Amino acid sequence: MPIFFNEKTKVFTINTQNTTYAMMIEPYHLLTHLYYGERIDESADLTYLTNAGSVGRPAIYPDVTYDEFEGGAGKFCPHARLLEYSGFGVGDFRTTSLQGRFSDGSQTTDLRYHSHKIIDSKPSLEGIPAVYANENEKAQTLVITLKDKVCELYAELSYSIIEGHDEIMRSVRIVNKTGAPFMIDCALSMSLDIPRKDFDVITFYGKPNNERYVDRSPIRHGKTSCESTAGLTNHFSNNSIILCETSATEESGDCYGATLVYSGNYSVSCELDHVGRVRMALGISPTGFCWKLEDGEAFVTPEAIMSYSNKGLGGLSRGFHNLIRYNVCRGKYKDARRPVLINNWEATVFDFNEDKLVEIAKEAKDFGVEMLVMDDGWFGHRNWDNNSLGDWFELKDKLPNGIPGLCKRINELGMKLGVWFEPEMISEDSELYRKHPDWCIKTPGRDPFRGRWELVLDLTRQEIRDCIYNQMAKILSESPVAYIKWDANRYITDAYSLSLSADSQGEFFHRYVLGLYDLMERICKNFPDVLFENCASGGGRYDAGMMYYSPQIWCSDNTDPAHRMKIQYGSSLIYPVSTMGSHVAYSPNINTFHPASVLTRGITAMAGTFGFELDPSLEDEKSKKEMLIMTDLYKKHYFTINHGDYYRIASPYEQANAMSRISAWQFVSKDKESALFNMVQMDNVNDGADAIFKLKGLDKNKNYKLHMYYDERNDKIKPFTPWLEQKELGVFSGDVLMKAGLHLNLFRGDNMSALIELEAVK
Ligand code: DGJ
Repeated sequence: MPIFFNEKTKVFTINTQNTTYAMMIEPYHLLTHLYYGERIDESADLTYLTNAGSVGRPAIYPDVTYDEFEGGAGKFCPHARLLEYSGFGVGDFRTTSLQGRFSDGSQTTDLRYHSHKIIDSKPSLEGIPAVYANENEKAQTLVITLKDKVCELYAELSYSIIEGHDEIMRSVRIVNKTGAPFMIDCALSMSLDIPRKDFDVITFYGKPNNERYVDRSPIRHGKTSCESTAGLTNHFSNNSIILCETSATEESGDCYGATLVYSGNYSVSCELDHVGRVRMALGISPTGFCWKLEDGEAFVTPEAIMSYSNKGLGGLSRGFHNLIRYNVCRGKYKDARRPVLINNWEATVFDFNEDKLVEIAKEAKDFGVEMLVMDDGWFGHRNWDNNSLGDWFELKDKLPNGIPGLCKRINELGMKLGVWFEPEMISEDSELYRKHPDWCIKTPGRDPFRGRWELVLDLTRQEIRDCIYNQMAKILSESPVAYIKWDANRYITDAYSLSLSADSQGEFFHRYVLGLYDLMERICKNFPDVLFENCASGGGRYDAGMMYYSPQIWCSDNTDPAHRMKIQYGSSLIYPVSTMGSHVAYSPNINTFHPASVLTRGITAMAGTFGFELDPSLEDEKSKKEMLIMTDLYKKHYFTINHGDYYRIASPYEQANAMSRISAWQFVSKDKESALFNMVQMDNVNDGADAIFKLKGLDKNKNYKLHMYYDERNDKIKPFTPWLEQKELGVFSGDVLMKAGLHLNLFRGDNMSALIELEAVK
């Protein structure tokens, strides 16, 4: 049994294939943490890890007897314990897990072990996305119920595991049976105490066009936290956090990571205390949050996915990747190959019509594209971004035959059609707003903030969700639209809902997210063949919650490979490449004016969902030929890329040597029969030395045939732009490639690349 309880020692043990997590019911019914790390033999007695000791005795449990007090040197001081879920006002002064107010205004929550059960499944969470077990996968869940010492307030802590995965899924259900309302001000999804401090903390930072940059810094005393109060996950940080041993590399060292399956306001933090222990905590941000839990009601927190790996950051990431792509993402396109698409946004912005779109599709078909995605500007009277959101019917000037007419012509080309929506927003200049000015989010008596001229619909309200659903369902029913790009181009301000009472307004942000999930679930359920791509001004809502509905998310509006490399590298610490919307765009890039070869743009897009974002009629024959090569390569290696293992080889954030910066990564199929190595020399000067890349994850006993695609200057052909060349590199053993490495002579220019196919040969 992977999860078991030892009646004698009162220890709960959760074993995954490579990890062990242990907790203990201590005297006075405290649920304390014992161990999280490498798998330990089931027979081991871990009770000695109770971490007794003084931390300056800030407070002693009131139940402690005189003898224990005198002889125990603070043994039952809550602040001295490693706690699983910490109450408020009871002597633990680190990050609180549960804090709220009872009807008399008191805030003390003293949580003690009450009961537990072990069930053989991974339950879903009502109304919130959560990790699920597939039909053939065994799963177990331990639910430990804590109860307040003096009243009937309960916290049910869930720990779930799924066979074949090392991650542990955690969520908490707060149940109020006190006979009166309990106002929850903070209810975290998880708290993890680790009794060591030799850590670096990894969090993510960014902005629109540069999302999820990696920040790795030594942990410092006090709290390091990232928070969103924007209603969405946002561009500025991410709801994931990693603690890694200071010496941890991609392949070695202890790493603890966690991410939330949630798309709203969050807080992720770690706190190093004065005696060198760390508390990692994740959950809904307490800022602006207050949930009125009536007597008899329950509140379920979003789920956190927690993981440990002693195989470095790479090991940790690959675990998250497997779980997210197979146990979070759903639908037909979780497994099936997704069509290669072309999106018209960078090609036309708002300036398009049916003929132009068909022309783009027709030309893109020549380089292997299978779907056209019509972006913003097809509805209401939208020729710019200041109007029409909420009016999801066709603008006849652009689409005289509506979406059915366009879809028919695209389908006749043997291609599919995708359509852009921004379902959560409303423009003041729209029919919907004129009819329902009270449907947007605003605080009474205040003029609401606009973001890109937009206001946000109050999705806490069923009638508003119904209206948007009905409009979208009509479009999806009238023609076989195969894909939806679900955009959201502003954050939430002026939070307030006319549907909530004054003392429930603190529920607004979470209820908004629940409303959004409800709308998405309804569309996913009724249109199961549609592929969803999420988007929020690029990658402003990149989280595992969204991935439950859309297996891919547009990573960023920045399509320049030099920047994308960093964005996608950062994202890959937690999220699989199958979730990263990534396209080949113009060179020079429209955001940064950097030029880049087709190969550089192609392999960057291939470290994601691969597609195009340009007008093919502006490309020359050479580029189109190279684009076809890239599309064919992507299709050929689709399963290795999307269902294989991903290895980071060289970081785009680091200087490779005095003169160049290189980004390199590798995919290996699960059976290790094929692999793809990719590298981009980001800033160059050819210093004459070979760049050496030790490959990873290959079978050391297999021989691999290497075929390289690379950028080279062909002096016979003018202009001297990079030409996509190919050559055989020979046969090498996996052992040699992983130990002596691949030796490549650096190229001449910036942004020049190589892609190497590795096929096992007998
Ligand atoms: C923001 C997205 O990130 C872009 O790709 C594009 O869809 C625009 N919105 C359209 O308004």
